[in-house]
Amino acid sequence: MADPQEILAQRVQSALGAAFGPEYADADPVIRPSQFADFQANAALALAKRLGRKPREVAAQIVEHLDADDLCRAVEISGPGFVNLTLRDDWIAAQAHALLGDPRLGTPLQRRQNIPIDYSAPNVAKEMHVGHLRTTVVGDALARTLEFLGHNVIRQNHVGDWGTPFGMLIEHLLDVGDTSAEAELLKSDPNAFYQAAKAKFDGSEEFAERARKRVVSLQAGDEGTLEIWRELIELSKAYFNRVYSTLEVTLTDADLAGESMYNAMLEGVCQELEDQGLAVMSEGALCVFLDGYTGREGKPVPLIIRKSDGGYGYATTDLATIRYRARELEADRVLYVVGAPQNLHFRMVWETARKAGWVPEGTEPIHVQIGNVLGSDGKILRTRSGKPIRLMELLDEAVQRASAVVEENRPDLDAGTREHIAREVGIGAVKYADLSVSHDTEYVFDFDRMLALTGNTGPYLQYAQARLRSIFRKGGVAPEEAAAGAITIGEKAERDLALRLLGFGPTVALVGDNLEPHRLCGYLFDLAQELTAFYEHCPVLTADTDERRASRLALCAAALRILVQGLDLLGVRAPEQM
Ligand code: ARG
Repeated sequence: MADPQEILAQRVQSALGAAFGPEYADADPVIRPSQFADFQANAALALAKRLGRKPREVAAQIVEHLDADDLCRAVEISGPGFVNLTLRDDWIAAQAHALLGDPRLGTPLQRRQNIPIDYSAPNVAKEMHVGHLRTTVVGDALARTLEFLGHNVIRQNHVGDWGTPFGMLIEHLLDVGDTSAEAELLKSDPNAFYQAAKAKFDGSEEFAERARKRVVSLQAGDEGTLEIWRELIELSKAYFNRVYSTLEVTLTDADLAGESMYNAMLEGVCQELEDQGLAVMSEGALCVFLDGYTGREGKPVPLIIRKSDGGYGYATTDLATIRYRARELEADRVLYVVGAPQNLHFRMVWETARKAGWVPEGTEPIHVQIGNVLGSDGKILRTRSGKPIRLMELLDEAVQRASAVVEENRPDLDAGTREHIAREVGIGAVKYADLSVSHDTEYVFDFDRMLALTGNTGPYLQYAQARLRSIFRKGGVAPEEAAAGAITIGEKAERDLALRLLGFGPTVALVGDNLEPHRLCGYLFDLAQELTAFYEHCPVLTADTDERRASRLALCAAALRILVQGLDLLGVRAPEQM
């Protein structure tokens, strides 16, 4: 399978070696998409200085030694020394045909890495908010994509299931009873449960005292306390899982690796850091001070690993976490798909762990920073009353709105089918909106925009693939059958489409390397737009010759498979019809 950019890079490199000697054979050929050709090689400009020659002269040398007649129709020098490369139509056609024989659609298998990926990570007895929605959706797309690239992905749902609030949560659960309507709230409206516990904590000194004692028993591993704690977790799991199944993300109970998992390691973490002289006592707390982390007036910012009351916090847990992922999971890369505001925290934790010798050279922790989701007022998304948005309500509304659209457009379908499509479209739209902008930028949550049938939206891509399916239905041809057809390129729209198809594998590889699902969205959007141009200029079922019809159907088959595969990597459904 051929990534044109990769093949051209190899050829230009060979030319560099042949023209300027072996020491140039591994120079970067700097192949880029070109405005005037398919690609351009910019190596001449980069190498001119080193060679002590004018860039255009260097370019001429490259062209002279370039052996690419089998894949290039034209090779031209332009501007200050660009080498413009135009691919041959028959080469593109042959590659597109080969793509159809490849179950991976041109996606390379990468050298297998162990990749723990920390995503979703909601907190027990708290409503999941749109921030958690976004880390869940982006994390899941990355997990799917990295798995497709051949990596050993280890999902780690770092749920907040430990800490001081659990004293009050446990006492409240004890008060109301685990089969009560109040306890049921944990499954449907966890914030309400939390608020009730908090109100008691703030209102009753007796309750507050019990809650504080309860935390101590929990920390000490008291069996009776742990039993109630487990019940609390079970009830919360029901809530998380309902969200996950609505979103159709791949997280299961087996992926739960919450804060509590590291509890037993925290003392050792502190001890070891103290023994190594990395942690010191400061104002009663055990702290790590790192160079370069200073706050106002140059005051050093500490990483607090044991509070003055003896309690451990979020940072201590994350120190144990990175140590575990590096050592036990033997991670090559460790991905943290977490809100951008936590960046400072992670940098300090990882630097400390690195200094302590817990993170070997070969392990790279990476913060995939998630930007905020904003309301139309430009502030963090909230309800009109100022309360945080309830995630399930948000998802329900998306499906409802999609329903209205499907009902209007497809009155011919039965209600069950319409409902099914509406679900796929509504949920797909919300997920795609999270994925299509770069993960670290903020974006405004806007139902109208995400559900629009035009623009870079989920429904637009879902429609693009549904339209392809309907062509096959209308023509009475199965896509698998059409895939065998020979591809010939006549029209520009056919050429553009075929060339775009070859870009799928390289794009997926790029997403795996750069951890940017929006690149895949952008690619699929370009593909969908090229399909529109293609239909406009190239009738498929009514093509004037059988060969042309077969070739166009083969192009459609490839486009369909790529759209479906691409959406699947993003975790977005591909409806049979729309
Ligand atoms: N539960 C945390 C939150 O809601 C996110 C945890 C992220 N992962 C981690 N290893 N700290 O903000």
